[in-house]
Amino acid sequence: MAERRYLHLNLVANDLNLHQGAYKYERAQGIPERSTFERLLEYGKFGDEGLFTALFVGDIPGLQGSPAFDGGPAEPITALTAISQHTKYVGLIATASTTFYDPYNLARLLASLDQASDGRAGYNAVTSVVDRFALNYSLEHHLDREARYQRADEFLQVLRALWDNRELRRDPDGHTRFYAEPIEHRGERFQVAGALNIAPSRQGRPLIAQAGGSGPGIAVAAKYAEMVFTNSSTRESAAAYRETLDKALLEQGRAPGSVPPIPGLIPFLGRTAKEAEEKLRELDSHVDWAPLAPYAMGQFGLEVPLGDLDEPFPTHLLPRPEDVEKTIKSTFGNYVGLYNWIRERPGVTVREVVAQAVGRGGATHRKFVGSYDDLVADFAAWHEDGNVGGFNLMFSAGAADIREFIDEVVPRLVDHGIYRATPADRPLRERF
Ligand SMILES: Cc1cc2nc3c(=O)[nH]c(=O)nc-3n(C[C@H](O)[C@H](O)[C@H](O)COP(=O)(O)O)c2cc1C
Repeated sequence: MAERRYLHLNLVANDLNLHQGAYKYERAQGIPERSTFERLLEYGKFGDEGLFTALFVGDIPGLQGSPAFDGGPAEPITALTAISQHTKYVGLIATASTTFYDPYNLARLLASLDQASDGRAGYNAVTSVVDRFALNYSLEHHLDREARYQRADEFLQVLRALWDNRELRRDPDGHTRFYAEPIEHRGERFQVAGALNIAPSRQGRPLIAQAGGSGPGIAVAAKYAEMVFTNSSTRESAAAYRETLDKALLEQGRAPGSVPPIPGLIPFLGRTAKEAEEKLRELDSHVDWAPLAPYAMGQFGLEVPLGDLDEPFPTHLLPRPEDVEKTIKSTFGNYVGLYNWIRERPGVTVREVVAQAVGRGGATHRKFVGSYDDLVADFAAWHEDGNVGGFNLMFSAGAADIREFIDEVVPRLVDHGIYRATPADRPLRERF
């Protein structure tokens, strides 16, 4: 029976993209301090309770410029394996870099997570972007984009072959046994004999997701991915991305529309739009803006001299995207998004740009400020367009915001008929 098309909501389950005032806000609200793992297990609990399709854990393999909230983001596969023992339904998607990992190692780790979670594991393939991280992995510098995606392509080919060349077979004697075939991969970057010595879960292998929106990124997604994590900030850009992805899927002989794009979203909510705006202002009031300012453009490798926080932003000094496409650090699309956001706001202050670029959860993802009903109407409009499969939600102030979303928004989405009302019991891959 064909299942009704519900929105997929994933919960980004580590403290990435939090508002920079979140930690002090929690303290001001009297929310008790928790360790990294207590926070992670709390996210797990919310994952099941909010009927989220999956928890999504981003990966930061090295010290970032800005201070971490809670002692640093935990390694995703370790975190999700722990969470798997405290959850029943929610999918568990771990991010790991094809640039820094070895495919056999990663195939083992993720296959183990798939077993531990009884078929709820997923893998978000990224090529990573921060130069400093490369120095942690015996590299002299980060690979350029072309080399990163060539490696990602061969990496995913090996990973999937290792996962696919295994089966649990019922033998004539009535016993079920595990069989695996060697893969004998001899490529430019990897030589892997295989086979993988871990039995498949009830979903066969983990779901493959991909994040990285350049041309080569989309080409790799079209070959291997079953879900893509994107950063569309408007319905128009979501439609444009969808068209590009569908074309790439056709070139790979796959059906257009078969891989749902899931853009990130950072909601700021209240009973009314005014209350949501007040909440955002309160979070902003906990931020020390001056030390953050250098990261606003520095994250793209750009040096734009910024004056006083309350002065107008020097928009005339901002390089045009087409002039820096080859040299920009971080995702080029993030820069284009921020550039357009600034251009559309003549007279915007330095402080507002710093807030948009880093303070309120990063330049990458759409920020929504409004009432619970406004958000439901927004989701319904995007759902109706049919260009996204749902959203990867990043909550600006962690647990307090997720609680509010589950209590206030989830029932409204269910009433609206665009969100499931009961837990998904099927393996993660079958949900997409
Ligand atoms: C939505 C999104 C999420 C990402 N998450 C991570 C991550 O958790 N860890 C990481 O190292 N890179 C992450 N990346 C970076 C990508 O791996 C990629 O290197 C970067 O986007 C540059 O490639 P591109 O030009 O194809 O976008 C993410 C990228 C996007 C678009």
